[in-house]
Amino acid sequence: MKDKLLEILKQAEENINSIKTIHDLHNTKSHFIGKKSIIKDLMKHLTSLPPEERPAFGKQVNDVMRSIEKFIEEAETRINENEYQDAVNTNQFDPSMPGRPLQKGSKHPLTLVQEKLEDVMISMGFQVVEGFDVEDDYHNFDALNHPLNHPARNLADTFYVNMPNETKWNSILLRTHTSPDQIRVMEKYKPPFKIISIGRAYRNDRFDPTHSPVFSQCEGLVVGEDISFKDLKNTIEIFIKNMFGSDCESRFRPHFFPFTEPSAEVDISCFICKGQGCAVCKNSGWIEIMGAGMVHPNVFDILKIDNEKYTGYAFGCGIERIAMLTYHIPDIRLLYENDLRFLKQFG
Ligand code: PHE
Repeated sequence: MKDKLLEILKQAEENINSIKTIHDLHNTKSHFIGKKSIIKDLMKHLTSLPPEERPAFGKQVNDVMRSIEKFIEEAETRINENEYQDAVNTNQFDPSMPGRPLQKGSKHPLTLVQEKLEDVMISMGFQVVEGFDVEDDYHNFDALNHPLNHPARNLADTFYVNMPNETKWNSILLRTHTSPDQIRVMEKYKPPFKIISIGRAYRNDRFDPTHSPVFSQCEGLVVGEDISFKDLKNTIEIFIKNMFGSDCESRFRPHFFPFTEPSAEVDISCFICKGQGCAVCKNSGWIEIMGAGMVHPNVFDILKIDNEKYTGYAFGCGIERIAMLTYHIPDIRLLYENDLRFLKQFG
């Protein structure tokens, strides 16, 4: 048996060394070590050997196979090199010709905004956390102080997830904002903390130039002792100057959110027309950019955080909106269509 193996090895070496084309090499490879090769045939005899001889025989077969594989590899290099030289010698191939340029990929504008935003916030001491796209009504609404009859809970606004019969039909949903991430942080960590969370949010909206049923938001939350509205204003101001330029101004307008009190909407001065009035700022000179406010004491109560000792602020903004403003993108749908002609501009 051993002699037979050595015979095969010798044959294979001679055969392979004389091969001139890759095609012949592949055929020879299957002949010697392929699925229906002479080596595989020989392996069938393994069972006819006394058990104590089997391991040694198995090892010999493996060694021979490995040697044959090595001959094949060497032959492949030799054949490729010869073919290359032949092509050069007969002028079929000009090795000095420049190669075809590779198409360079680029980051998606939403990724660029997300990365910049994270950099700015991390430089101010914020930690980045992640929430869940599929949430329950407790984290998305109840714990955020939404009354049971709040309109956002409506089917017309929220995507609910169909659940097996025993679960309440409206208890599992696609988060409608990233604010449930605040709740999860307050459940998990003890104050003080400073976090941002970036992720997708879902609303039962139709696509139009400024709306999409799936979009991305950034949520910020700071909780600690002596955190004031002034801290919120400072943070937002630094955030806005870093994102939109040092000459960009901001203003706070009173607003309402169930989970913050007082609440505000933040506008930035229109950096496109510099306050002259244009279509983007609807001739007002200001563009709404985020919601913000001081964490509502009810939210602290729900999460059993001492609202005498701790205060906090939160803010939330849309990533698409920032990308559209930064890169002058006229329609939100361009961000989701993966059209290379559009994406190439951001190389
Ligand atoms: N969650 C709010 C929204 O989606 C934004 C917000 C976040 C407001 C945090 C205040 C504080 O509109």
